[in-house]
Amino acid sequence: MIVFKYNLYVIYFLTFFYPFLLHADTSDIVKKGFDLAERQYALLYQDHKDMSKYPRSADRNGKTTFTDIRDWTGGFWPGCLWYVFDYTGDDKWRDVALKWTNSLRQNQFNTNHHDIGFVMNCSYGNAYRLTGDTTFKAILIQSAKSLLTRFNPKVGAIKSWDVFPSWDGKHTYEFPVIIDNMMNLELLFLASKLSGDPIYRNAAIRHAETTLKNQYRPDFSSYHVVAYDPNTGAVLSKETAQGFSDNSAWARGQAWGLYGFVVMYRETKDPKFLQAAQKMAEFYIKHPRLPQDKVPQWDFDVNQAGFVPNWNYRKADFETIPRDASAAAVTASALLELVDYMETGQQQEYLDVAEIILRSLGSPKYSSEVGANGLFVLKHSVGSIPHKGEIDVPLVYADYYYLEALMRWNKRSHRLTQLMKQWQEMNRQKTRALKDFQQQKFGLFIHWGLYAIPAGIWNGQKMEDLGSPSVAEWIQLVAKIPRSTYAKLADQFSPQSFDADKIVKMAKDAGMKYLVVTSKHHDGFALYGSMVSSFNSEQATPFKRDIIQELYDACLRHKLDFGVYYSHNIDWKDGSDAQYAVTKAQHDMLNKKTDAFGANLWDPSTNSFASYLNKKAIPQVKEILQRFKKLKYIWFDMPGLMTAEQSFRFYKTVYDLNPNIIVSERIGNGMGDYAIPGDNRIPDLSEHFTKPWEAIGTFNHSWGYKSYDHDWKDVDELRYWLLEIVSKGGNYMLNIGPDAQGNVATPVKKNLAILGKWLRLNAEAVYGTSPWTIAHEGPTIIRITDTEQREKEGFKAAFTASDFWFTQKKDFVYAMALVVPKDGIVKVQSLNQNKAKVKSVEILGFGRIDFQQDNHGLQLKLPKKIQNSSLGYALKIKLG
Ligand code: GLY
Repeated sequence: MIVFKYNLYVIYFLTFFYPFLLHADTSDIVKKGFDLAERQYALLYQDHKDMSKYPRSADRNGKTTFTDIRDWTGGFWPGCLWYVFDYTGDDKWRDVALKWTNSLRQNQFNTNHHDIGFVMNCSYGNAYRLTGDTTFKAILIQSAKSLLTRFNPKVGAIKSWDVFPSWDGKHTYEFPVIIDNMMNLELLFLASKLSGDPIYRNAAIRHAETTLKNQYRPDFSSYHVVAYDPNTGAVLSKETAQGFSDNSAWARGQAWGLYGFVVMYRETKDPKFLQAAQKMAEFYIKHPRLPQDKVPQWDFDVNQAGFVPNWNYRKADFETIPRDASAAAVTASALLELVDYMETGQQQEYLDVAEIILRSLGSPKYSSEVGANGLFVLKHSVGSIPHKGEIDVPLVYADYYYLEALMRWNKRSHRLTQLMKQWQEMNRQKTRALKDFQQQKFGLFIHWGLYAIPAGIWNGQKMEDLGSPSVAEWIQLVAKIPRSTYAKLADQFSPQSFDADKIVKMAKDAGMKYLVVTSKHHDGFALYGSMVSSFNSEQATPFKRDIIQELYDACLRHKLDFGVYYSHNIDWKDGSDAQYAVTKAQHDMLNKKTDAFGANLWDPSTNSFASYLNKKAIPQVKEILQRFKKLKYIWFDMPGLMTAEQSFRFYKTVYDLNPNIIVSERIGNGMGDYAIPGDNRIPDLSEHFTKPWEAIGTFNHSWGYKSYDHDWKDVDELRYWLLEIVSKGGNYMLNIGPDAQGNVATPVKKNLAILGKWLRLNAEAVYGTSPWTIAHEGPTIIRITDTEQREKEGFKAAFTASDFWFTQKKDFVYAMALVVPKDGIVKVQSLNQNKAKVKSVEILGFGRIDFQQDNHGLQLKLPKKIQNSSLGYALKIKLG
């Protein structure tokens, strides 16, 4: 395990304060869209292997049409593939997206048009976001450099095209800026973050400010083209290129502008950009001619009075005014980010429109049949009607922004709220199971696996000399052992002394009520015959036995509850880098630190983390639940960088197969059923637990077997842990690490046997109890805060006859003492008359005894037999 110090219940609280925004389960929209994308794109990439031709649209016969690397749309095809990978987590999409992305490499030097932002951000930007591969950084920075060559400080803008001839044929402009250019600014912000050089960002801000000043009308409809004098910066003309008329609102232009100002606000937090974005959103949402399905006509002003085209427009050519699905898709995606920057109360209308757009686009009216529509997802977009090109066709960028919007819908914070609602619903069903768990009080934890063979020493070096953490089960990370070398340990794994019955019986006799064993630890090695991965005790070792099955059966025989530990996030063999690089790429953009703790950065598997989840972790959890029907606990560990969606997926997988299984807090993201206050840590009384909790500790300092760690807890320390934890209301799970032969250390067996004897006598004061109003009285205060502290400072305690730990059950309070007073006179101050009236007192295992009670406490004299006890005693006190 582990090395967690503290846990906070962060996301849990969101549940209560974040209003529930969704009307229905909307995940179907997302699934439907991506299912279709997967089917269409699988056909498209199989059919089409020429990497110099980028799918763009379809001809009249539904055949895909292509474009070359110089075009503005080349990045969308790899971009679509990246979104499919993002959604499915299937590495085949990653691999094909990578291939297509890399085919655009040369474009980093392209200075011929402003669209290099579209091309490179949608391809390489996503590649970096989803792989974290830092080699993409240089390409993205160079692309931004190329784009910057078109920035003119006099104008304060990036030149979109090199020339723009007016439709009236009278003018040719040399410095046209189109509203679409707002979409290229995101690349500039990214380049500044990746390079640390503000030059790109500053240019983006200038460009947006110039656009805001010159490209909008008071109603926040935009001019498509503004032509500048490159020498003076003066505005020469405001016109359209692809819209209906110079003064009209071209639908996609509106969408580009909206999206661009949302990005501007994200990156600068300047309120004027938020205001611009909101005004553009309002223009779209509230437009009287926006159809009910919220997919706009290609221009909002077609055939309206006061809007006169100066290109060759013939109304008769259009029986109905074409819609533009691409404009709707871009708008939906922009709205779904914009709401993140708005007050909760303002969001609903925007969310509703986004949802309607996504539902419309997902309907048969706009979504293709499989195999049709040039193998794109969406139908009914418009390229440019004035240019008489691509009218009512699929367009690759419509697909791209549609998939992006679906991903945003999927990831939106109200989805998180929805997840937490669903989580709460499932968690509520476990009240009974959790109550039972809380009665148990004492359990055995077992860490066992291949790491028991090196036992803390690698190539003659102790772990402490190699790095940290120095717990034996982390040796692969600490010694940076390559996966193939570590896997060879399996050839030596033959623990001939392993006897499940002996271990379970030892736990039972020690007074333990449950057992949790590592079914798969961070090294990825399973202790059961997994059908999912052959790296397991049955198939990969000469031992050829199913250890988990044997322990499970033994627990059933001896009536101990059974649970498994499962390392769901860290898997050094198959779990890639536990999504470190990907998360880091995303965090870097937000100037957030990323913790690599536990990640395999020395020899990560080459698959993605998403495919590890899909192909190993989730299937293994399923097979464990299907095999061990009477499983009670699943102990996930070290969630690291896991997202809420990922934690939820594990929780729901468990719940769907067995709703009675309770899940440890370390599933991550506040989605555990019970809390774990830390490793080798006893929580303070002041800590408030909203869930049942379990303190965990090792017998020595390591969880897995470590040949040179002999600092075993003695009986007093074990009893202290148990009493301190139980009196505060928790469970204590005590860990052992059998050696490579399956032996349990002699002091462990000996001390557990003594502890069991004591517990048998005092069982009533421990099991099924709850905390009393006071947990402990007496002079001995010990704080055990973590593994390192205990290891460094040891356990120094001189318990006195004045130390008592309390529990309660029904009308009884139990007072437990570890030390018998020399004179036999017992004084319990907390049980003074002011606090409670004592009716009777019994010594457990002995019987009733006389007492006195006054304002100073409860007083009694122990009988001779108890005075000789080396293990203290427990009082059962009836209150009146
Ligand atoms: N940026 C070109 C278009 O939207 O058609």
